[in-house]
Amino acid sequence: MCGIIGYTGKRKVRDVLLDGLELLEYRGYDSAGVALVDEKGGEPSVYKCAGRVADLRKVCQEKELAQTCGIGHTRWATHGGVCDENAHPHRFGQVTLVHNGIIENYEELAAKYHLTEKLHSQTDSEIAAGVFDWFYKGDPYDCIKQTVSELKGTFAFVILFADKPDKIYSVRNVSPIVAAKTPEGTMLASDVTAIGRYTKKYFVVPEYHVLEIDKENITLTDFNGKQTEPEYLDIDFALNMSEKGGFPFYMEKEMAEQPKVIADMLEEKTKDGLPDFSKEGVPDELFTDCENVCVVACGSAMHAGLAGQSMMKKFLHIPVTVELASEFMYNDPVVDEKTLVIAVSQSGETIDTLEALKYAKKHGAKSLAVINVKGSSIARESGAVLYTNAGPEIAVASTKAYTSQLALFCLLTARMAYARGNFTADETRAFVQDLKKVPTAMEQVLAGKDRIHHIAGRIIEAKDIFMIGRGMDYSIAMEGSLKLKEVSYIHSEAYASGELKHGPLALITEHTPVVAVATQGRLLSKEISNIREVKSRGADVVLFAKQSVIAEEKEGCFGFALPDVRDEFMCLPAAAALQLLAYYVSSDKGFDVDKPRNLAKVVTVE
Ligand code: G6P
Repeated sequence: MCGIIGYTGKRKVRDVLLDGLELLEYRGYDSAGVALVDEKGGEPSVYKCAGRVADLRKVCQEKELAQTCGIGHTRWATHGGVCDENAHPHRFGQVTLVHNGIIENYEELAAKYHLTEKLHSQTDSEIAAGVFDWFYKGDPYDCIKQTVSELKGTFAFVILFADKPDKIYSVRNVSPIVAAKTPEGTMLASDVTAIGRYTKKYFVVPEYHVLEIDKENITLTDFNGKQTEPEYLDIDFALNMSEKGGFPFYMEKEMAEQPKVIADMLEEKTKDGLPDFSKEGVPDELFTDCENVCVVACGSAMHAGLAGQSMMKKFLHIPVTVELASEFMYNDPVVDEKTLVIAVSQSGETIDTLEALKYAKKHGAKSLAVINVKGSSIARESGAVLYTNAGPEIAVASTKAYTSQLALFCLLTARMAYARGNFTADETRAFVQDLKKVPTAMEQVLAGKDRIHHIAGRIIEAKDIFMIGRGMDYSIAMEGSLKLKEVSYIHSEAYASGELKHGPLALITEHTPVVAVATQGRLLSKEISNIREVKSRGADVVLFAKQSVIAEEKEGCFGFALPDVRDEFMCLPAAAALQLLAYYVSSDKGFDVDKPRNLAKVVTVE
């Protein structure tokens, strides 16, 4: 959460920072600010305001700002409300900084270093600036090392010292920072989306190292004083993947990218018709040596895990659990050396997922991460990694990242079944061959967007909605429901169809639309009984069902026919359809679809 950027070079830094902050805005968008270093040194000029980067742009545009070194921040509030004073950067004495993370012992630090009377904001970040200033005696390295030894919590700091013009410093624990050299200067940011237009190579700043950048050089020094060489990675997505490309919202663009993202992944991760993870160095022993699987994840990634669980249990016949990462450690999880823990995360930075993974590893579990962002913290922590390669996802509501996780779970299940002897080679190939039909099915769903737009009109006025399904359809309903509530602010609840009678039926009236998902042949007759139950209580039922099912359904539900693929893979076209539903409700209500209130895309606080 919170987006950070810093640049020092030949370009006008104001423009570099504002353009970068716009791309980082999905990390938080309560307020924004920049600090620009004046040519002659001295205190940087700080411009900041509550609101979006667009508001900050107005503040900065009024002035002719020619500086070439500076730092910027877009905030997701944790400590202190949303107001100009709490926006970053924070200046304290010789120090001006931006911060991502939470300093847990901020009250203690404020008292210890007599800062309380001198503060202008309610943030933990300004207190940290005060501590940096306290320790600053002209040597940034010493100051950073001493300050960090006082801090409890997570942080990525990017710091300017008043007597070091043109230099930017950074240090981090958990919260990410990447850095790069470009032909016209050096820069750093919370993630690569902000620097991709200037360079194709970057590195992840290691934790507890002091990074110093000037207009040409990058120096990385560990806390023992040893200089280390950055480990450079390639940016392997096309630049236009982080642009809107003519779509009104990133969410629509990212939904449209799904068939290609999935087709590319199926191509890249199969060989001779079989799932193949050898390029990523994931050995079959990881799959054969485990007796149970535990998936840890948050949000949509957790929903992808639920679909994965259905598939794995069906074909592998081993216990598979899915745990909310934020609850994992507090529920005495049973994991040991026979457990394969699978951490699923788009960003690879979700702190709860990272902590759950560390906990499982500590208890002997072997680990695999399913990640989109290369080099991210969870990818680094995990024993093995499979990348979904969905490209940058900017809209807060996950679409292509989620469906690429679903597709990866399909491949993973097939490889595990093959390695463990549940599938023969021919069965595995047939499974993969059918999976390769999915991108076309998803294209058909996307081509039916007008019909889904029409369906959106049917539920747009609702205050409460239920989404129901059985088996894998229940997990799809959970994701569809999350999508709808986060972008449209309609209260939507996913329920296992069979559970309706145990409470929720009391809430069904003619004003409570029900979205039913029916894609699983063996569950169909029971699902239809549940649909009848809600219809007979007056609910308007919208049915998202496999084409062959809709043809048979005589109850006259309004609905959308999902193209037929194997039942196990129906989650993919169904997910795309429910994403479109949420999207149209939100855009027709006139909301900022990409930036729902109170949310942020990368959740780096517990
Ligand atoms: C946030 C995002 C969701 C995402 C969840 C987990 O809530 O808005 O889209 O599913 O975090 O994030 P991760 O990066 O771990 O997949």
